[in-house]
Amino acid sequence: MPFTALVTDRNSTGGVTSRVEEVDETRLPEGDVLVAVDWAGLNYKDALCLSGQGGLVKTYPHVAGIDFAGRVVESSDGRYHPGQAVILTGWRVGETRWGGYAQRARVNADWLVPLPRRFSTRTAMMLGTAGLAAMLAVNRLQAEGVRAGEGEVLVTGAGGGVGSIAVLLLARLGYDVAALTGRPELGEQLMRLGASRIVARDEILTPSGKVLDRETWSGAIDNVGGPLLGEVLKKISHGGVVAAVGNAGGRNWDASVIPFILRGISLCGVDTVMLPYDERVAAWDRLTNLFVPAAFEPLLTEARLEDVPGLADKMLVGGVAGRVVIDPRDPPT
Ligand SMILES: NC(=O)c1ccc[n+]([C@@H]2O[C@H](COP(=O)([O-])OP(=O)(O)OC[C@H]3O[C@@H](n4cnc5c(N)ncnc54)[C@H](OP(=O)(O)O)[C@@H]3O)[C@@H](O)[C@H]2O)c1
Repeated sequence: MPFTALVTDRNSTGGVTSRVEEVDETRLPEGDVLVAVDWAGLNYKDALCLSGQGGLVKTYPHVAGIDFAGRVVESSDGRYHPGQAVILTGWRVGETRWGGYAQRARVNADWLVPLPRRFSTRTAMMLGTAGLAAMLAVNRLQAEGVRAGEGEVLVTGAGGGVGSIAVLLLARLGYDVAALTGRPELGEQLMRLGASRIVARDEILTPSGKVLDRETWSGAIDNVGGPLLGEVLKKISHGGVVAAVGNAGGRNWDASVIPFILRGISLCGVDTVMLPYDERVAAWDRLTNLFVPAAFEPLLTEARLEDVPGLADKMLVGGVAGRVVIDPRDPPT
């Protein structure tokens, strides 16, 4: 059976190009479960895969798409049956094997989670990997003792997918949220999601020249990394915690041990890719209680497969707000 996919392949200039094509089902990778994709997400990592950056994709032609939600078409695994709605995030699907930018995806049953009863497949991808990462980061801050009402929590890259969802989740839990963004024009939308104030990226990115700065935040969810994370660490209050999620602004910073040993702060990593099944299900379950799809709708862009390469280019320069969900199905005629 042929299906439509966004196929990324090497081009004659040494780069990669993506095109919507008809692909035969026999070209799909091995796996226990064939899924008809309803919605896929667009994540920073997808943008890297579509531009050939980061060395994530090793073999071409490739179908990117690190997360999707859809319905089971065929399954040789007893946990999943035809018609069942499922979510896939991570496990390097869309990087080392074909992913969700297609009408069909074949994956291992171990990588799927059943769609939570209160979510549609569209809501699941409104969240996608970004929502899962935001939820895990919030869980981590709470597990490490960052409590609502005991100081402001900073979210960096607040205009992006992980950042905007983190703002909403923290606000729903009663935290005072400072939303850091390089795009002041998103301020009003971030306040509507629940931010109590907006912090300009440049204000923090300008090096303070100190090893410690004024104690400002009891916790932070950082999606930017690099020098910005270095400056944030200097401003975390005594005993505070930072959950490091992303590196949209860089990998390395000029680090000092001083905030750790004089203020007892912690820096915790968040990884959605290899997260064990039970923790995935628990995180999705918590999202069904906390996430408010209607509140997030203004920050959602719906797209089709042919729109994805252009949106990915925009994402790499920090130009996409909130989340993008992609409908790979044929448009109604
Ligand atoms: N650890 C995990 O499992 C996990 C899971 C999901 C995502 N991630 C990572 O988390 C990060 C965010 O992912 P996403 O999908 O939310 O991406 P995104 O939607 O593109 O958001 C990233 C945001 O970071 C800010 N930003 C972009 N370029 C920047 C730069 N050069 N300097 C400073 N800030 C910059 C922008 O926010 P403003 O315009 O508001 O400043 C942008 O919207 C990525 O690095 C991604 O790979 C990790």
